Amino acid sequence: MPNVLIDVQGLSKHYPPNVKAVDDITFQIKAGRIFSMLGPNGAGKTTTVEILEGLRNPTSGKATIFDVDVTRDYSKLRDKVGILPQNFEPFDNLKPNEAVQYWAGLYDMKATASRVNSLLAQVGLSERKSVISRKLSGGEKRKLGIALSLINEPEVLFLDEPTTGLDPKARRDLWKLIEEIRAKGTTVFLTTHYLDEAEKLADDVAIMNKGKIVARGSPQELITKYGKMTVIVITGAGEEALKEIKRRGIEATVENGDVLVPVKDPVEMRVIFQKISGIELKAKDIYTRRQSLEDVFLNLVGAKMDEGVLSP
Ligand SMILES: Nc1ncnc2c1ncn2[C@@H]1O[C@H](COP(=O)(O)OP(=O)(O)OP(=O)(O)O)[C@@H](O)[C@H]1O
Ligand SMILES: [Mg+2]
Repeated sequence: MPNVLIDVQGLSKHYPPNVKAVDDITFQIKAGRIFSMLGPNGAGKTTTVEILEGLRNPTSGKATIFDVDVTRDYSKLRDKVGILPQNFEPFDNLKPNEAVQYWAGLYDMKATASRVNSLLAQVGLSERKSVISRKLSGGEKRKLGIALSLINEPEVLFLDEPTTGLDPKARRDLWKLIEEIRAKGTTVFLTTHYLDEAEKLADDVAIMNKGKIVARGSPQELITKYGKMTVIVITGAGEEALKEIKRRGIEATVENGDVLVPVKDPVEMRVIFQKISGIELKAKDIYTRRQSLEDVFLNLVGAKMDEGVLSP
């Protein structure tokens, strides 16, 4: 079994008079894993990450990385930790190769040309290394941010919403990069609004809401534990059909005009199809899909996050 690398015990951060940004959370992260913290705006993700990065002091509780207390001895961790802050914008007036050199200087490291080149190649910016940073696209800026966070070859990498606001292609490029970083043995702490991202990348997930961890496990474990496994989707059937379906005692919801019927096993699926077979449905299509982490999230957090944020 891999070792516990990050250990968080009863951690809280309160802002007077009454904001409990982080409210007594406990979790552990094992070495070499991608751990994803999911949650809506204001859940307390960044606060948690920034405590672990030694940037904020907790009100109470304890957090250690490699058994080092992050509030007391952060200097001991500096060389082992990499950080990509939320909404990071690289230096507008530096080119990527200059930014990497400058950043290396902050770590008292010499960045030889070959080191700069290999770092930029790792994040897929080789061809853009001499372009002034303000002219980079959002995805390229994020890649440069990741290159900077990797300068000290960290053993733990904190990525606070690395893909927010990126187009699907840029997001997938970053997913690949994050997987490559993990493949080298780095432990990754990733916060995200994107449930598909956590499902794709994370070995362990913590769902956070209002300062508390409301669920914890692998994406599969969470889906099995909190979600029924399959949903029947009746596209375009609308509210009318929903009423008819519910009248037959079937649990269902409507989303964007589609009726969704959760099902736990094949026996229940047969029963449901029998019950709805008499209804005249104005459906464009009927199909089944596996529950996603998004469904679990909605069940747990109860409210939909900003439209368009949940799934791009
Ligand atoms: N310095 C501060 N003073 C007072 N309240 C704060 C402060 N920093 C954060 N908060 C509050 O703490 C809560 C958690 O904020 P945090 O930034 O950790 O959330 P988050 O999960 O990262 O959200 P997002 O997804 O929007 O980035 C919010 O209610 C926020 O307003
Ligand atoms: Mg945040």
